[in-house]
Amino acid sequence: MQIQDGRSSETLDLAVKYLRQDLLIGLPTETVYGLAALASRPQAISKIFKVKARPTNHPLILHIADFQQLDKWAKNVQPFVAKICQQIWPGPLTVILQRSEKICDEITGARETVAIRVPNHGVALALLNKLDDGLVAPSANRFGKVSPTCAKHVVDDLGDDVALVLDGGFCAIGVESTILDCTRAYPQIVRSGAITRDELESIGNIKIENSDGESRASGMLEKHYAPKCRVVLAENSKDAESRLAALASDGRKVEIIDFFGDTIAYANQLYARLRQADETGTDVVIAVMPINTGLGEAVSDRLSKAAAASKS
Ligand code: TXA
Ligand code: MG
Repeated sequence: MQIQDGRSSETLDLAVKYLRQDLLIGLPTETVYGLAALASRPQAISKIFKVKARPTNHPLILHIADFQQLDKWAKNVQPFVAKICQQIWPGPLTVILQRSEKICDEITGARETVAIRVPNHGVALALLNKLDDGLVAPSANRFGKVSPTCAKHVVDDLGDDVALVLDGGFCAIGVESTILDCTRAYPQIVRSGAITRDELESIGNIKIENSDGESRASGMLEKHYAPKCRVVLAENSKDAESRLAALASDGRKVEIIDFFGDTIAYANQLYARLRQADETGTDVVIAVMPINTGLGEAVSDRLSKAAAASKS
């Protein structure tokens, strides 16, 4: 059985064994499930790109066991970054830093920078603590598609390309981590997530610039996170109802996604809902946009990209 309980010590031992054989593992985190390989195994890392059909210029996030490991993998960590990471990790924040000699080119697409985070999930941390290594893991979906938020989603997407999926239940947050690029003159958020700009500015006592729009992370691509169905955005519940009436009139199967102001539940269930819409043959999803603050910003971002992708 490919999906196994990640809390069992035997399963974790099996995961370690597979990783050392350059096989890929489905890894639960608090954000989304990752497709993991050992950071020290370039051949396994190359497999991740192949399996995901991901361009090699979209580098991977390195997951480490704790803040103390950071200096092994990154150089010139500024005090404000150390303060932020120490306070937030384990948690849904990825920082981009200058890479150390330990990082191989396969992880970063030969860039001089590396993205690092400590995931806040018992299973991921237990596995990392069994390794004298880090785990590189992008979201465990094919490139450009919707991220997985439970073990079954990983197998649905990747089938036998993943040797073992550690079941860690449904992801608590449901959207990918916030990415803070700390390698520029001023730090920039290049992907929104559960950790907000206000939080980062107040912990680090810094000013965070608006991203300059350069496509530095796939999260920055205008089109991404795309289900098969078309995604149409609505401003509010009333707008969604009137769009439904118009769109359903010619026999298309249309459904509304509306969390009525509950942005935590929206983030938590968004990807599962989009996947379910595809499974049930929905043609069009009308998504009511959440307020554009806090976690709502991350949900709005993913919805806008899903809508942009499904237009073409
Ligand atoms: O929540 C998450 O971050 C999840 C879980 C599994 O940890 N991971 C995730 O990975 O979302 P992925 O590969 O889907 O997204 C990582 C993003 C990509 O957009 C990639 O381009 C960017 O991070 N990235 C990684 N290294 C980078 C670097 N050195 N410079 C700029 N962007 C980088
Ligand atoms: Mg991804």
